[in-house]
Amino acid sequence: MTVSPSISSETRDRLIAAACEARLKAYAPYSKFAVGAAILAEDGRFYTGVNVENASYGLTVCAERTAVGTMIADGRQQITAVAVCTENGVTPCGACRQVLSEFVPLAADIPVYIINAQGQVRETTLKTLLPDDFGPRHLG
Ligand code: THU
Repeated sequence: MTVSPSISSETRDRLIAAACEARLKAYAPYSKFAVGAAILAEDGRFYTGVNVENASYGLTVCAERTAVGTMIADGRQQITAVAVCTENGVTPCGACRQVLSEFVPLAADIPVYIINAQGQVRETTLKTLLPDDFGPRHLG
Protein backbone atom coordinates (compact mmCIF):
# COMPACT_ATOMS: atom_id res chain seq x y z
CA MET A 1 0.00 0.00 0.00
CA THR A 2 1.48 3.32 -1.03
CA VAL A 3 0.38 6.55 0.56
CA SER A 4 0.62 9.29 -2.09
CA PRO A 5 4.28 10.19 -1.60
CA SER A 6 4.60 13.28 -3.70
CA ILE A 7 2.62 15.95 -1.91
CA SER A 8 4.83 18.88 -1.07
CA SER A 9 4.26 20.73 2.18
CA GLU A 10 3.31 23.76 0.11
CA THR A 11 0.57 21.83 -1.74
CA ARG A 12 -0.62 20.36 1.54
CA ASP A 13 -0.86 23.82 3.08
CA ARG A 14 -2.72 25.18 0.07
CA LEU A 15 -5.16 22.27 0.16
CA ILE A 16 -5.80 22.87 3.85
CA ALA A 17 -6.32 26.59 3.24
CA ALA A 18 -8.74 25.81 0.40
CA ALA A 19 -10.85 23.57 2.65
CA CYS A 20 -11.00 26.18 5.40
CA GLU A 21 -11.79 28.97 2.97
CA ALA A 22 -14.56 26.88 1.37
CA ARG A 23 -16.04 26.23 4.79
CA LEU A 24 -16.97 29.90 5.03
CA LYS A 25 -19.45 29.32 2.20
CA ALA A 26 -21.18 26.26 3.69
CA TYR A 27 -24.97 26.28 3.59
CA ALA A 28 -25.79 24.87 7.00
CA PRO A 29 -28.67 26.90 8.46
CA TYR A 30 -30.19 23.90 10.28
CA SER A 31 -27.25 22.15 11.91
CA LYS A 32 -25.04 25.28 11.99
CA PHE A 33 -22.21 22.81 11.47
CA ALA A 34 -20.23 24.23 8.55
CA VAL A 35 -17.92 21.87 6.70
CA GLY A 36 -15.39 22.68 3.98
CA ALA A 37 -13.58 20.07 1.93
CA ALA A 38 -10.83 20.25 -0.65
CA ILE A 39 -9.68 17.47 -2.95
CA LEU A 40 -6.34 17.32 -4.70
CA ALA A 41 -6.80 15.56 -8.04
CA GLU A 42 -4.08 13.56 -9.76
CA ASP A 43 -3.09 16.42 -12.03
CA GLY A 44 -2.65 18.88 -9.17
CA ARG A 45 -5.99 20.62 -9.48
CA PHE A 46 -8.01 21.49 -6.39
CA TYR A 47 -11.74 20.97 -6.03
CA THR A 48 -13.64 22.35 -3.07
CA GLY A 49 -17.01 21.57 -1.59
CA VAL A 50 -19.23 22.58 1.28
CA ASN A 51 -22.16 20.95 2.98
CA VAL A 52 -25.46 21.97 1.41
CA GLU A 53 -28.39 21.46 3.74
CA ASN A 54 -32.07 21.47 2.88
CA ALA A 55 -35.34 22.23 4.65
CA SER A 56 -36.10 18.59 3.89
CA TYR A 57 -33.22 17.57 6.16
CA GLY A 58 -32.49 14.18 4.63
CA LEU A 59 -31.53 15.81 1.33
CA THR A 60 -28.44 17.37 2.86
CA VAL A 61 -25.22 16.70 0.97
CA CYS A 62 -21.88 16.63 2.76
CA ALA A 63 -18.95 18.85 1.82
CA GLU A 64 -16.76 15.94 0.74
CA ARG A 65 -19.38 14.70 -1.68
CA THR A 66 -20.00 18.10 -3.23
CA ALA A 67 -16.24 18.34 -3.79
CA VAL A 68 -16.21 14.91 -5.46
CA GLY A 69 -19.08 15.97 -7.71
CA THR A 70 -17.21 19.08 -8.80
CA MET A 71 -14.09 17.04 -9.56
CA ILE A 72 -16.03 14.50 -11.63
CA ALA A 73 -17.88 17.22 -13.51
CA ASP A 74 -14.50 18.71 -14.42
CA GLY A 75 -13.33 15.42 -15.89
CA ARG A 76 -10.98 14.20 -13.13
CA GLN A 77 -11.46 10.82 -11.47
CA GLN A 78 -8.46 10.29 -9.23
CA ILE A 79 -8.00 11.70 -5.74
CA THR A 80 -4.51 12.25 -4.34
CA ALA A 81 -5.33 13.93 -1.02
CA VAL A 82 -8.27 15.37 0.90
CA ALA A 83 -8.61 18.10 3.49
CA VAL A 84 -11.70 18.58 5.65
CA CYS A 85 -12.23 21.63 7.85
CA THR A 86 -14.80 21.83 10.64
CA GLU A 87 -15.23 23.67 13.94
CA ASN A 88 -13.99 20.75 15.99
CA GLY A 89 -11.80 18.79 13.59
CA VAL A 90 -13.93 15.71 12.97
CA THR A 91 -13.28 13.02 10.38
CA PRO A 92 -15.57 12.45 7.33
CA CYS A 93 -18.77 10.48 7.84
CA GLY A 94 -19.01 6.88 6.66
CA ALA A 95 -20.86 7.74 3.47
CA CYS A 96 -18.20 10.25 2.48
CA ARG A 97 -15.40 7.80 3.23
CA GLN A 98 -17.05 5.37 0.83
CA VAL A 99 -17.56 7.97 -1.90
CA LEU A 100 -13.97 9.26 -1.61
CA SER A 101 -12.67 5.70 -1.72
CA GLU A 102 -14.27 5.13 -5.13
CA PHE A 103 -11.72 7.50 -6.64
CA VAL A 104 -8.53 6.28 -4.98
CA PRO A 105 -6.50 3.97 -7.23
CA LEU A 106 -6.35 0.32 -6.30
CA ALA A 107 -3.55 -0.49 -3.82
CA ALA A 108 -3.05 3.18 -3.04
CA ASP A 109 -3.84 5.16 0.04
CA ILE A 110 -4.18 8.92 0.36
CA PRO A 111 -3.61 11.41 3.14
CA VAL A 112 -6.66 12.97 4.77
CA TYR A 113 -5.97 16.23 6.58
CA ILE A 114 -8.42 17.06 9.34
CA ILE A 115 -8.46 20.68 10.42
CA ASN A 116 -10.29 22.46 13.21
CA ALA A 117 -11.29 26.10 13.56
CA GLN A 118 -8.06 26.84 15.42
CA GLY A 119 -6.13 25.67 12.38
CA GLN A 120 -4.81 22.55 14.08
CA VAL A 121 -4.16 19.78 11.56
CA ARG A 122 -4.32 16.05 12.12
CA GLU A 123 -3.19 13.74 9.35
CA THR A 124 -4.70 10.34 8.78
CA THR A 125 -5.31 8.23 5.67
CA LEU A 126 -8.41 7.04 3.89
CA LYS A 127 -7.54 3.39 4.46
CA THR A 128 -7.25 4.08 8.16
CA LEU A 129 -10.72 5.61 8.08
CA LEU A 130 -12.18 2.92 5.82
CA PRO A 131 -10.27 -0.37 6.04
CA ASP A 132 -11.35 -3.42 4.07
CA ASP A 133 -13.39 -1.24 1.77
CA PHE A 134 -15.91 -2.24 -0.86
CA GLY A 135 -15.00 -0.85 -4.27
CA PRO A 136 -15.36 -1.09 -8.03
CA ARG A 137 -13.04 -4.13 -8.11
CA HIS A 138 -15.62 -6.20 -6.26
CA LEU A 139 -18.09 -5.87 -9.09
CA GLY A 140 -16.03 -7.99 -11.49
N1 THU B 1 -21.30 16.84 7.19
C1 THU B 1 -20.40 16.96 6.19
O1 THU B 1 -20.47 17.91 5.39
N2 THU B 1 -19.42 16.04 6.09
C2 THU B 1 -19.29 14.98 6.93
O2 THU B 1 -18.42 14.14 6.71
C3 THU B 1 -20.14 14.87 8.10
C4 THU B 1 -21.30 15.76 8.16
C5 THU B 1 -22.37 17.85 7.32
C6 THU B 1 -23.75 17.34 6.99
C7 THU B 1 -24.61 18.31 7.77
O3 THU B 1 -24.83 19.45 6.96
C8 THU B 1 -23.75 18.73 8.95
O4 THU B 1 -22.43 18.33 8.62
C9 THU B 1 -24.17 18.09 10.26
O5 THU B 1 -24.28 16.72 10.12
